[in-house]
Amino acid sequence: MNPEVTSEPERVLNAVKAWKKQGLSVGLVPTMGFLHEGHASLIRRARLDNDRVAVSIFVNPKQFSPSEDLDSYPRDMEHDLEICRAEGVDLVFNPEPGQMYPDGFQTSVAVDKLASGLCGASRPGHFTGVCTVVSKLFNITRPDRAYFGRKDAQQLAVIKRMARDMNMDVEIVGCPTVREPDGLAKSSRNSYLDAEERKAALCLRNALLRAEETVARGTKDAAEIRAAALKALEAEPLARIDYVAVVDPDSLEDAQGEIGEKALVALAVFIGRTRLIDNTLI
Ligand code: PAF
Repeated sequence: MNPEVTSEPERVLNAVKAWKKQGLSVGLVPTMGFLHEGHASLIRRARLDNDRVAVSIFVNPKQFSPSEDLDSYPRDMEHDLEICRAEGVDLVFNPEPGQMYPDGFQTSVAVDKLASGLCGASRPGHFTGVCTVVSKLFNITRPDRAYFGRKDAQQLAVIKRMARDMNMDVEIVGCPTVREPDGLAKSSRNSYLDAEERKAALCLRNALLRAEETVARGTKDAAEIRAAALKALEAEPLARIDYVAVVDPDSLEDAQGEIGEKALVALAVFIGRTRLIDNTLI
């Protein structure tokens, strides 16, 4: 069945209200489009858990700084709709910026500490843009559950915090990172990479594997684990490191000394002009 496709928030809200009246549960997969296997896996999980699935496709201007890639961000609505059709999505919401942020719009939703380090430090305002749009998407689609990839580990943590802090009645579900056969995490931004950069981009995965190996050899020292990842990245001439961090997976605070039960190794690296992120839980 073809999904209903609409750019109108009111229409989405009415469709969802009709579902809710029938006692049907709703899963939301928020996306910025240019869908790939990672998104498809979120949709499949949402299908398993819910009676109805809505996908939003919106390149949110509020989460890009003026120097970032808003205008060049890849878009392919036809292909996105094909994926939504194939995965049995019920509703596609693809608003225009003016429908999400009409004249006079002046509200934002900001998470403080969790959003300030890692990607938040190098992309000021990014997570406020994310939280603002995700809050709106939650209000428009009233989901019982919403699905986010663990590749964006900080985004997932920030959205969970926001939902808890603001008593949002939605379960935030984190889903596994989907990778290319050679290990590169799937990302819409991979499409920016030329052949040489694509090879170089493997240094992110390799750095995480080096960190994992260090832990497997019995090292618990956060600085040593970080150094192993850093060394792998520094060996790649096309890589410019934004950050390499070993953090507590919940608070995202830097791990000091020995890591506890669990730690997150998170990376952001420019390959040429493309900023890529990845992480692993150790
Ligand atoms: O992860 C993304 O694609 C975006 O940040 C999201 C969650 C769809 C908000 O625009």
